[in-house]
This record gives sequence, C-alpha cells and structure tokens, in this order.
Amino acid sequence: MDNTLQTPTILRSDYRPLAWRVESVELDFRLDAEQTLVTSRLACVRVPGASGPLPLDGEDLELVSLRIDGAEAGECMRRTERGLEVTPGSDTATIEIVTRVNPAANTTLSGLYASKGGLFTQCEAEGFRRITYFPDRPDVMARYTVRLEAEQASFPVLLSNGNLVDSGELPGDRHYAVWEDPFPKPSYLFALVAADLEAMERSVETLSGREVLLQVWVEPGNLDRAGHAMDSLVNALRWDEETFGLELDLDRFMIVVVADFNMGAMENKGLNIFNARFVLARPDTATDADFEGIESVVAHEYFHNWTGNRVTCRDWFQLTLKEGLTVFRDQQFSADMLARAAGAEREASARAVKRIDDFRGLRAAQFTEDSGPMAHPIRPDSYQEINNFYTATVYEKGAAVIRMQHTLLGAEGFRKGMNLYFERHDGQAVTCDDFVAAMADANDRDMTQFMRWYSQAGTPVVRASGQWDADARRYTLTLAQHTPPTPGQPEKLPLVIPVAVGLIGPDGNDLPLRLEGDSAAGATTRVLELVEAEQHFVFEDVDAEPVPSLLRGFSAPVLLEIDESDARLAFRMAHDADPCNRWDAAQRYAERVILALAAKADADVPEAFLDAWGALLADESLDPAFVALAATLPGEGWLLERMRPADPAPLRAALMRVMRAIGERFADQWLGLYQRLEVRGPYRYHPADAGCRALRNLALRYLAAAGNEDGLNRAETQFEYAENMTEQFGGLAALVHSASPVAEDALDNFHTRFSSDALVLDKWFALQAGAWRWDEAAPPVLERVKALMDDPAFKLTNPNKVYSLLGAFFRGNPAEFHAADGSGHAFWAEQIIALDAMNPQVASRMARSLENWRRYTPALQTSIRTQLERVRDADGLSPDVAEVVGKALV
Ligand code: ARG
Ligand code: ZN
Repeated sequence: MDNTLQTPTILRSDYRPLAWRVESVELDFRLDAEQTLVTSRLACVRVPGASGPLPLDGEDLELVSLRIDGAEAGECMRRTERGLEVTPGSDTATIEIVTRVNPAANTTLSGLYASKGGLFTQCEAEGFRRITYFPDRPDVMARYTVRLEAEQASFPVLLSNGNLVDSGELPGDRHYAVWEDPFPKPSYLFALVAADLEAMERSVETLSGREVLLQVWVEPGNLDRAGHAMDSLVNALRWDEETFGLELDLDRFMIVVVADFNMGAMENKGLNIFNARFVLARPDTATDADFEGIESVVAHEYFHNWTGNRVTCRDWFQLTLKEGLTVFRDQQFSADMLARAAGAEREASARAVKRIDDFRGLRAAQFTEDSGPMAHPIRPDSYQEINNFYTATVYEKGAAVIRMQHTLLGAEGFRKGMNLYFERHDGQAVTCDDFVAAMADANDRDMTQFMRWYSQAGTPVVRASGQWDADARRYTLTLAQHTPPTPGQPEKLPLVIPVAVGLIGPDGNDLPLRLEGDSAAGATTRVLELVEAEQHFVFEDVDAEPVPSLLRGFSAPVLLEIDESDARLAFRMAHDADPCNRWDAAQRYAERVILALAAKADADVPEAFLDAWGALLADESLDPAFVALAATLPGEGWLLERMRPADPAPLRAALMRVMRAIGERFADQWLGLYQRLEVRGPYRYHPADAGCRALRNLALRYLAAAGNEDGLNRAETQFEYAENMTEQFGGLAALVHSASPVAEDALDNFHTRFSSDALVLDKWFALQAGAWRWDEAAPPVLERVKALMDDPAFKLTNPNKVYSLLGAFFRGNPAEFHAADGSGHAFWAEQIIALDAMNPQVASRMARSLENWRRYTPALQTSIRTQLERVRDADGLSPDVAEVVGKALV
C-alpha cells in the first residue's frame, strides 16, 4: 500500500482559535513502569462569544473515566479520530479524566517512557496527548499543579515543573511530591521525572537579588561529569541578564540527564531534560567538541525560558519564532564565551572561528535541505508530521534570519526590539509576525519586504561582479539576486539581503570605503542592503583594481556566485581581513580542485593549490583553531551537493588523493606544527588549548592519510598515552583513517577500556561507520556496520546508538553507503522499516538520508528508488516516514 496517500496535510492557513480556555490543570500520577494511572482535572471556560465543543487530543491511551462537573460524561462526550470531543452543558466546567499508560512499552520516547529503570517525559511537539486527553496545542496555556506518587525504592526522586510545595512518605514504602508551576504554560512544556538520580547543586543570586537553586540531576556515580554543564548554566544565566536584562523567574532550575532521548534536549519549564551527551563530560571521556556542544545546548535550553516559554508559539508553524531566535541567542552566547576566554588580542579570531563553524553547519545541513524535496520556508505553510519540521531550516536558517535583523538594526536596535517584544507579549502565544512587528516598531522601520524570509524557501543566490574605472577612480559592484524554485513555490520575490563588503587593495590591505554620496571615507567593511533583483553600488576614490570580499561574517544565508581565478582565491586566502572569507576562499579553491579531480581520474593535484595551502600552514600569526578549520577540506556531503550528477565513488577517490598530496607535500610542516603546538599541563577546556589540539589532530589525519611513518607513530603514541579524550580519540581516528595495521588493535583496546561508557562507545561506533577504505583490500564498511549491530552495546532502541552507527554510515560515509551494488540502500530500507516500528521520529530522521537521491547518477537513482518505494509501501508505516519518502518520490 502507498502510505503517503493516507497521511493528511495540515495547513497554516487552517489555524482557528479554540472555543475554550483551560485555566488550570491538576495532574495526579500513580507512577509505575507498566501501569501508570493519570488523573487530570481541567478547569475549562468557554471563550466569550465562541461556540462549539472542546476537542481533546489523545493517542495510545486507555480511557478509564471522564467526568464533567462530577458526573459521568455520557452523551456529552464522543470519540473522534484525534481523541475525544466533550460538550459541557455550561460555559464553565471541570473535566476530570483518568487514563492509563504503559511507559515501559513506549518505545517512541514521546510522552511518558521508561529509560534505565526511571520514568521520563518528552512532550514537544505532541507528546502530552500520549499521557492524557488534552487540547494539546501551544496556544492553550494553563497553570499546572502536579502530584507524583510512586514506590520509593525504584523512584526515589520525583520531579516536575516549577516549585516543590509538598512531599512526604506514604504507607507501603511509597512517597509523593507536589509541584506547582506559577507560570501558565502550553502542554508541550510539561515534564516529570521519577528515577534514581543524584544532584549537583549550586545556589546563585539573580540580577534583582533573588536566591535561586540550580540542580543538575544525573545517574548515581556520574556527579564528576556534571560540573561543566553546571558552569555553562551559570554562565548562560549571567549572559541573559547582561545582554538582554532577562532574569531567571523561578526559585529552582533543574537539568535532568536521560540516556534515551530522541533529540538534544528539551526546555520544559524549570525542568530541562537532556540527552546525556549534552551534559556529561570529564576530560578523559569527552572531547573539546563535546565540551563546546554542552555549553551551547545548556545555554540554548536555558534561553528558551524567555524565548519559547514566557512567550511561546501560537501554533507549530511558528516554531522558528522560538527556535531560530534561541539558536541565534546561543550562538551569540558561545561567541562571547569564546571571545572572553581568548582574551582581547585573540577575541576577533575566536569569534570568527565560531561563525565559521556555525556557517559550515548551515551550509552542510540547511543548504542541502533547501535544494531538496523537503525544502520549506523557516515558517512552513504545511506539514504532515510536525516532528519532521525540527529542521536545519527552522533552526539554523531561522537563526540566520534573526541574525540579519540584528545586523540591519544594530545591537542596540535589536535589543530595543526584544524589549518591546516582551513588553507586548509576555505570557502569550504569538506568531513570527508579532516578533518582526516588535523589531520594526521599536526601530521605526518598515520590515514588510524582510518578512519574505519567513515565507520563501530555497537558498537565494547572489551573483556579484565588479568593474573598476581607472579614470574615474571608481569601482562599481553589481549584485543580483534570485531564489531557485522549490516544491510548491515556482516563483520568488527579491529579499532584503544585508551584504557586508570590503575591498582589498593590491597590497592585501583593506581600502577605507567611500560610497557614492558619502562625504568622506569610513570603515573598511560596510553593510550594503540588496533589496532589488539587481543593484549597483559605486565606491569612490579607488586607485587600483580592488578584490571584493563579500558577505563578510556570512552576513546572509545565501550562496555567493562570483567569477574568481585560482590566483584570486589564493590571494584572498592569504590576505582577506575577514577570517570568514579567508576560510571561504580556501573552501572554494579546494572545492574547485576536488571536483575537477573527481571528473578526471588521472589529473594531478595542481601545484598552485598546494602552494596556497602551504602558505596557510606557514602563517604563524594565525590562530591554530582557525588554521584547523581553514585546512580542513570541504565536507563530502557538501561536495556531493555541488557535483552534478553526484557520484560518491570518484569523489571519495579525489578526496583521498588531495589528502594524500597535502599530507605528503607538507609532512615536515605538519610534523613541525605537531611538535610546536603540544599542550602541556592538565586538560582544561579552553579555546586556545582546543585550537592547538584540533590542529594537531588534523596534522595526524593528513600524515596518516599519506602513510607517513612518523605521523602514524605519533598517532599511535598519542592514542596510547593521552590523558584526555580529545587527543586519545584524535590518535585513534588518524589510525582508523589510514591503512595502518595497528588500527584494529587500537579499536579493540579502546572498546575494552570504555566498555561500560555508553557515550564514549558512541564515538567508537561512529568512527568505524564513517571510515574510509584507505586500504583497498579492506572489506566494505557495510559489513563492519552490520557486525557492529551485534555488539552488546548496540541497541536499536537507543537513539544515540542509531545516530552514531547508522547515522554516521548513511549520512557521513557516502562512498560506502552508495556502493554500486545497492547493498547499502537495501540495508537502509531494512533498518528504516525496523526502526519505524519502534520509534518513528528516529526512523524519519534516518530516512531523510536519501531524500536528495535525484542528484545522483542514473544507476544509483534506480537502486535508491526501489528502496524508497519499498519503504513507502511497507505495512503500518508511520506518518513521519511516510511524509519523508512520499515527498522524496514526488
Ligand atoms: N525544543 C527542543 C529544542 O530545540 C527540541 C524538541 C524537539 N522535539 C521534537 N519532537 N522534535 O531545544
Ligand atoms: Zn530549541
């Protein structure tokens, strides 16, 4: 059966306010792993003037009873496709609903579920309806009181949102706790935890002098891994006070760790629940990247307390209202933290490194999404399954759209807009229009055209060309924009695109810029506003032909097209004052060279390219963290996006050749860097140290790729003797990404050492699933992946395991995944179908790894289509996967 025909589409234009308000919710849980009884008491009031019943969503629930004002509902209740509908006899009613659920059987990890003996919830987006019948939509905001009761021995800790108002023991070794959340909230922010946990605690004073208790709850024995998350939380709290005047509004703020979690983390009011991987860190188990990820996710969830919780979304189409804004906030926070740690002299470079990292992520994930069958505006117009729209577009492009507002209005103007937004909308469920209106009104600026960023999908292309007029000493920059068609949007209108521009003179220095009409030259970087399909910008007093440096700091989420010779790319690699564009120049050059090699198997790696690369390595004025980014070749996924038709095998061969060439040619430099940048002393998570470690690990990778014996020895030594995970894993990764005979032993060794550490094993799985075959005689990686699924540590029910083994293979190892015999595609279909029966959200994320199949070679397309159809027609497919494969096959 073709499942895609069965799944209804929900439209943004269909939004209607509810005829009822829910003033308060009293929840009473008799918690038990297999039979949890939930009693919910809703105080409902009809909206004046509105008519109609109160629809209650419900999914996978056993209804025990439903009473209206104390009486059996009888005729006043009927079952519907989505749950129930009740029709109270008067305009105010108390509805009491009793349901029974089975957390242990809930493998979807949405609603109430069991993990390692504890009970946890995940309600965003529509998980609350899996706990009790409720109008489960974000514009229904109510005050919650929650009573939890459970057996004391199995569930010693009982947590919910807000403040603890009562607790005590009960006969039969049971106990209870009552929690009250003073702030009205939508149901998706509800949470409870009942588990055996320990807390790290810290008490801090807020801006206005209130004492608040911060807690990080972890499994017993893990307290020594909670410190970094706690520090990050305190830093986030301070930052939001300083930057936006936003204070913590509760007496207590909790973070709870769970091992089984679909996403990164969840901002439930006062009770954030986190995937363990974004909390637990100790130098010997977590890498620098892990430490950085924890800092940003802890901050992200904390920042949601204002952008998401105090002001929430009217409907799920507005998701970017909270996610785009909160990602922007966490990016700014991380940049500030990095800059502060780096110190005044290195500050700019530290910020640039963060920008490059963020932009690289946007390009790899979002630009590819935006050119495929799932392309959607940051505020979509329709969806079949909302869980499929927690996307790079909503999050990352959404953040870029907020960043452009910050750029156009300036930091101060943006702050004024934020103030007005909270002044107007605190306690409300609102839309993206409300946010932009606050920005516009606070700054007296018309943002009508800007709003197109919210409604148009696709990555805009900005085409640039320049003309220097020697006699007039003028330089005219022509910028043209167009956005390619996307599904359902054949035609696009011009956007407001802030283009930060610099002009580099022949000596490599930036020119002071004087735009036509300016009285005098000013700064060396200017933000131009491109609002028409094509515009000319004229710069005066330009004495020699300049090299333009465009979109500095990645000032807009667009693709820049510009004709640049190899020589000019090398020039910008060496001289562009904007580190983002230096990185970009290196990437463009590398992309050009790699794609040419992929098309012509016997060509050599051009000498000029190697020279440019060598200059980068030799420049000791550069921060190691920057060099590590600039000297990393463009990602394979991105290169496939740029290659038509996409052909993973020759691309992989080309990448290997370039890596070997860079490893061989600069072996001495790499070894020199490796020596010079050694970090001594005990591990600390610090950008300067992390930069050195990153560049040294990269050196090992290039040396290992080239089969350099010194390099391989150093990798082995580093793997064996390192005292921190960054270096240990860096050594291991270099060995695995080489033809080294010791790689297998090293992998075994690592497995033995960390056999009981789930998060470290995730890295071990991912490394092997993503491995390249440097040794041509090695068996296909698919065989390894299949064997690893039998490892006792691997569980298809644990999302982290799925992401690290299957995700790393499907998304991170194209040449192996797309093996010509189609074995990878068949394996993909089997796994998607198996996963979907347990956890549709995880299955759907994995399913998306084939959505861009139409850009591959005809032979690969044929093989992929067969498997997409196989999944589409599978029995009992979820709407989640049905939407993804359905759209892919359109
Ligand atoms: N709001 C969470 C965050 O961004 C993510 C929740 C994702 N939930 C989902 N069902 N996809 O921090
Ligand atoms: Zn978020």
